[in-house]
Amino acid sequence: MIPSSYITDIFSHDKNFQTIMKNMLQTTFEISFEGVMITESGPGYPIIYVNPAFCAMTGYTIEELVGRSPSILQGEKSDQRVLAELKEKIEKGEIFHGKTVNYRKDGLEFIMEWKIVPIRNEDGNISHYLAIQRESRDDELGYQSIDTQLPFAGNH
Ligand SMILES: Cc1cc2nc3c(=O)[nH]c(=O)nc-3n(C[C@H](O)[C@H](O)[C@H](O)COP(=O)(O)O)c2cc1C
Repeated sequence: MIPSSYITDIFSHDKNFQTIMKNMLQTTFEISFEGVMITESGPGYPIIYVNPAFCAMTGYTIEELVGRSPSILQGEKSDQRVLAELKEKIEKGEIFHGKTVNYRKDGLEFIMEWKIVPIRNEDGNISHYLAIQRESRDDELGYQSIDTQLPFAGNH
């Protein structure tokens, strides 16, 4: 298995390390087929970034989402059990993987499948959360939370 530090190790001795990592991260988010959302870790999890795929999926612009809570996507059919589990897991520093009903800006519902990983700062405290999100076309697993094993994510 490739450890998660592999990508940073490749460039660690390059004098342009920070620029290369920044450009790579930015490009990955901007061209990704899947939605990316980054939030603060404080109450309501205010959104600080969403990528173009996220905007295309939900119908919101980045300007409409920054500063808002991801709960803007929730509605009548959103699964409260899954959302409670999300909160419990990520605040303990664990990875969450689940599905729930969400709503686009125009009100149309869809099934959101997402993983959320806590991002830690130099002090080891959770400063942000990062989510990878997609519309699920497979409702075989219902709206339940899904167990995931990502041994390296969230530890760095
Ligand atoms: C990074 C991140 C992404 C989230 N994305 C979604 C989402 O796509 N859909 C959703 O229904 N809830 C999402 N949530 C959960 C809501 O933010 C949460 O249910 C809401 O803020 C209510 O939290 P509270 O119980 O603390 O008030 C996300 C949370 C985080 C941290």
